[in-house]
Amino acid sequence: MEDNITKEDLDTLITFLKKMPRLTQSTNVLAFEKEWSDWLGVRFSVFVNSGASANLISMAALRHLYGLGEIIVPPLTWVSDVASVIQNGFEPVFVDINPKNLCMDDAQVISKLNDKTRAVFLTHVQGFNGLTERLLRSLEERDIPLIEDVCESHGATFKGKKLGGFGLLSNFSFYFAHHMSTIEGGMVCTDDEMIYETIRMLRSHGMVRESTNVEIKQKYVHEYPDLSPDFIFAYPAYNVRNTEIGAVLGRSQLKRLDENNIKRQKNFEIFIKNLDPQKYRTDFDLEGCCNYAFNLVLKKADLGFRKNVETALKNAGVEFRRGSSGGGNQLRQPYLKDFLPEKEFEKYPEVEHIHFFGYYIGNYPTLGKQKVLELCNLLNSL
Ligand SMILES: Cc1ncc(COP(=O)(O)O)c(C=O)c1O
Repeated sequence: MEDNITKEDLDTLITFLKKMPRLTQSTNVLAFEKEWSDWLGVRFSVFVNSGASANLISMAALRHLYGLGEIIVPPLTWVSDVASVIQNGFEPVFVDINPKNLCMDDAQVISKLNDKTRAVFLTHVQGFNGLTERLLRSLEERDIPLIEDVCESHGATFKGKKLGGFGLLSNFSFYFAHHMSTIEGGMVCTDDEMIYETIRMLRSHGMVRESTNVEIKQKYVHEYPDLSPDFIFAYPAYNVRNTEIGAVLGRSQLKRLDENNIKRQKNFEIFIKNLDPQKYRTDFDLEGCCNYAFNLVLKKADLGFRKNVETALKNAGVEFRRGSSGGGNQLRQPYLKDFLPEKEFEKYPEVEHIHFFGYYIGNYPTLGKQKVLELCNLLNSL
């Protein structure tokens, strides 16, 4: 993988730093949030210090505003999606993935919806869209919120609309390997004003003065006359703010995001078209996908072939991760041991296949056609 932060971004940052500005969250953070909202097509965005923090305060907002219950979440995702559910006292409910897009199987999600379901926390895995009409319709009919984790899929679309604009809340990451990077960073996005105000407070110690809504502030000041209006803490919360440095880098890269995404999409198409379908899965649902990684999934559960693939990639100096982006089946991880019956992970065969035979390999804008073809030739020769 190659860093998305260029010399041009760093020059912009240096010019900014030379002005001796304030570096804690300030005008650049606000401007980045506004520009991100415009890019995504939502009303509000809140810049935080990581995608994991975006997950954490999204689940916290849901708990405070909607109450506890079950959250449907995939076993193939990043640890923080599941951890944030547990940390906030929700019960995680898992379903298997659809092998065509690596996201939760929509029919299985629908079959698990019930009176206790507080939300569906869907991860758009590795640039693929995980939404379907029937899933959105089912959630709307039952008035169950959708939370989208778009940390791996900036710019991907469903029916021409960007992912992250469908849910009550959506989360993005700007960590190193992702479509763009603010060193560390994440974004929480929403169209809902109450959610926005709550997320702003949760980002900053639960402080009421972080709300932009005068009525909310006055309500607390009126209810708690013994407290300094500057120090009213509405929620037991966190400090997950980012800085002006991250925002300057984010604003600089956002200008190139669409252009870079087109390059990544081209690379991905070349990769999928030239891979041997007898050996690797190539029948992914590519509509609207925008991938920062090449998904390499072995067709057969063959440990000998897996060894050949890993050895060949290592020898050629190609960086890869087994288990896709999150290390495979979360249900096999020690942190979930106390929450699940023994061998629960076996009930999710599609995730299990990705766990043992799925990989991700970096796909970045400066990677040319020739290199992608070389990679395919290497893999096909095995
Ligand atoms: C789906 C998903 N959610 C959340 C995160 C966490 O993002 P961060 O690394 O910025 O904390 C990641 C990280 O890679 C991710 O892939």
